[in-house]
Amino acid sequence: MRISAAALALLVLVGGCTTIVPTDAPDGRHGGQAGVAPVRPGYTADGEFQPWIEAAHGEIRRVAGAEGCVALTFDDGPHPTLTPRLLALLAEEHVVATFFLVGNRVQQWPDIVRAMSAGGHQIGNHSWDHANLTQLGNDAVVQEFARTDAAIFAITGAAPDIIRLPYDASSPRILGLVDRPVIFWDIDTLDWKAGSVSEIVDSAVRRARSGSIVLMHDIHATTVSAVRGIVDGLRARGFEFVTVSELMSGQPCRAETVVAAAHP
Ligand code: NI
Repeated sequence: MRISAAALALLVLVGGCTTIVPTDAPDGRHGGQAGVAPVRPGYTADGEFQPWIEAAHGEIRRVAGAEGCVALTFDDGPHPTLTPRLLALLAEEHVVATFFLVGNRVQQWPDIVRAMSAGGHQIGNHSWDHANLTQLGNDAVVQEFARTDAAIFAITGAAPDIIRLPYDASSPRILGLVDRPVIFWDIDTLDWKAGSVSEIVDSAVRRARSGSIVLMHDIHATTVSAVRGIVDGLRARGFEFVTVSELMSGQPCRAETVVAAAHP
């Protein structure tokens, strides 16, 4: 009788992306950038290019090295009823997301922004009044973000690390005016015009890949209704959820399995 000599050793290397740093940490990772030198999109503070970030003309769309990670992003809030519903759902599912907030809405609903920050979500700057920045002068563009920074800072104690431009309206001039990474997306769920919840779920779950940034809007009821299906569907595909800044760190989420056969 022959005894099988082959033994399999499984080494599971788990990535560090499940760590959620509370936003009330003294050195809060979600901001506190006052006085820090401007960082060009896709570059470190030292001016070193981060090659794993897919940045076309300084526009970050996906983080290729973030194996198994997906960042869900929600724009245009906070919404007085839908955003709290979404926050409750994300808490229940233990999912962190990134919210690109509109400054005048931040001012209107500070308690929601406080809850968002306390929930470990990342907050990004989406301008003061959702203007098409390509139609504004330089000073006005800078003011759009500065006012929003101040409104968010007054509530959370940290200014956002990242920016998203309204209407996807970008230009070299706009990118030259902003001092932080500008976050686009590689998966647009088109939730604002989707006819049904299942269309939104399908759009996100089917197309997401490692390092994807998924665009949604928490000002639509259909979007909020789609989130549980998206979370379930992406988890079933083996993905974990991280904030955009966690994604940009390039740390993998997926447990890598290394199979080593023992010799007889
Ligand atoms: Ni928007």
